[in-house]
Amino acid sequence: MTIQVKTFGSMSEAAAALASDRDARFFSGGTLLMRAINEGDTTIGTLVRATDPSYRQVRNEGSRIVIGAGVRMVDILANRDLSVLHPVARVVGGPAVRAMATVGGNLFARSPYGDFTVALLALDATGMMQGAYGGAQQTPLEQFLAGRDRAGSGGLVTAVSVPRPAGPDAFRFRKVSRVKPKGVSVLSIAAHLPVTGGRLPGAPVPYRPMAPAPIPAPGRGGRVGGYRPGPCRHGPGACRGRRRPQPGHRRARQRLVSPRGRRHPRASPLALRGRLAMTKIPVQFRLNGADKAVFVEGGENLLEALRRGVGDMSAKFGCGQGTCGVCTVLVDGEPQLACLTLAETCAGRSIETALDLADGPRLHPLQTAFMEHFAAQCGFCTSGMLMAAKALLDRNPSPTREEVAEAISGNICRCTGYEPIINAILDAAAKRGGTSREQGHARV
Ligand SMILES: Cc1cc2nc3c(=O)[nH]c(=O)nc-3n(C[C@H](O)[C@H](O)[C@H](O)COP(=O)(O)OP(=O)(O)OC[C@H]3O[C@@H](n4cnc5c(N)ncnc54)[C@H](O)[C@@H]3O)c2cc1C
Ligand code: FES
Ligand code: FES
Repeated sequence: MTIQVKTFGSMSEAAAALASDRDARFFSGGTLLMRAINEGDTTIGTLVRATDPSYRQVRNEGSRIVIGAGVRMVDILANRDLSVLHPVARVVGGPAVRAMATVGGNLFARSPYGDFTVALLALDATGMMQGAYGGAQQTPLEQFLAGRDRAGSGGLVTAVSVPRPAGPDAFRFRKVSRVKPKGVSVLSIAAHLPVTGGRLPGAPVPYRPMAPAPIPAPGRGGRVGGYRPGPCRHGPGACRGRRRPQPGHRRARQRLVSPRGRRHPRASPLALRGRLAMTKIPVQFRLNGADKAVFVEGGENLLEALRRGVGDMSAKFGCGQGTCGVCTVLVDGEPQLACLTLAETCAGRSIETALDLADGPRLHPLQTAFMEHFAAQCGFCTSGMLMAAKALLDRNPSPTREEVAEAISGNICRCTGYEPIINAILDAAAKRGGTSREQGHARV
């Protein structure tokens, strides 16, 4: 059995292809699907993609905003009309995950993921579905999520329609995680609380990850409101930053739904290799400014294609799960995790790796700064760190220390403790002419 990748120009064709093949999965950003393929999930036989432009568009429709299911977290962050959702998109993974993860994929992400879906639920969003035989329908998100994991319920989500929130002050989102600045959530919770006539009308307060999908908060049917908002009874600011779980929260933990879904048999690496050995698909892209053509196997990731196909070994294999960042490369200038990027999606795109950072014998300023600050010790994380840092400095030549820490938050280093790396990046920024906004830190 091989993994086939089928690409369609319209959502209806993609929906029909999905409905006719029980081993087919819709491929959106691929952060979760490629993880499963890398693990050897043998239930995936076909990846269905759609190039329909509407899938990646954001449209204003009067009092509602329609967000295409293929819109990525970085697209949300770049869209001023969606500023109310910026704090939510900003906490989905690290920068490379955000450049890949889509709104549609987030609706299907099982616990502990699905932060964006929590926000959409609070905003009373509806899911827009494409039927296999041409029909389209809209379903309230709460209803969609309740049936999401039922066998045979898999449809194609084309977009989500979100009522325009009353204002940034009326929407609240909080993600609590142990690892900062990036980490999976221990809790994410959202509320849309517009005050009308001095009162809060009923509003849903969804939260997760207490169940496979986000759930409404316990009590009052998961809604708060109907009362006049006032200061906290413990005094102003007294509860800020307190972590004590509330009684309702504890009850929800006790009702924890076991995340039993479709279990996929784990294939051995040998079985996986046998499965992938059949198909070879030609893919052309620009690698570090030069045209390259490579034959890839069905479902193969970009990291394999670069290392095995092209012989560029600068991006490393660490986890194959998107968590360590050693495979970070730039695709069209954005940091992406090569281990989670389907090689076929790179056709016609521009890829940069650490192999070409130096200009002949002249090192890139980032490489020099890494040497001067002892930011590379064993060196295993270094190529990924360099590419994550390059993506930052290309976009923002004068980053602050916090912005640097955020930019490398998806990259793990087991040796340096991160401080030398952050100092090196700030130093490189200062030497490249960026006026450092980090007084006293850029030149250490
Ligand atoms: C390292 C790492 C960190 C992460 N951190 C977070 C985090 O902090 N918060 C968070 O919420 N998530 C996180 N995720 C999970 C994931 O990246 C996001 O949930 C993302 O939004 C999933 O979108 P995708 O496009 O990559 O999904 P894909 O992998 O493309 O798809 C996931 C599933 O959804 C289905 N699907 C996708 N789109 C559609 C559609 N339009 N119609 C029907 N089915 C569809 C696919 O068939 C597949 O089964 C993380 C993932 C990784 C690897
Ligand atoms: S993130 Fe790609 S190998 Fe770890
Ligand atoms: S230098 Fe060893 S992992 Fe970063």
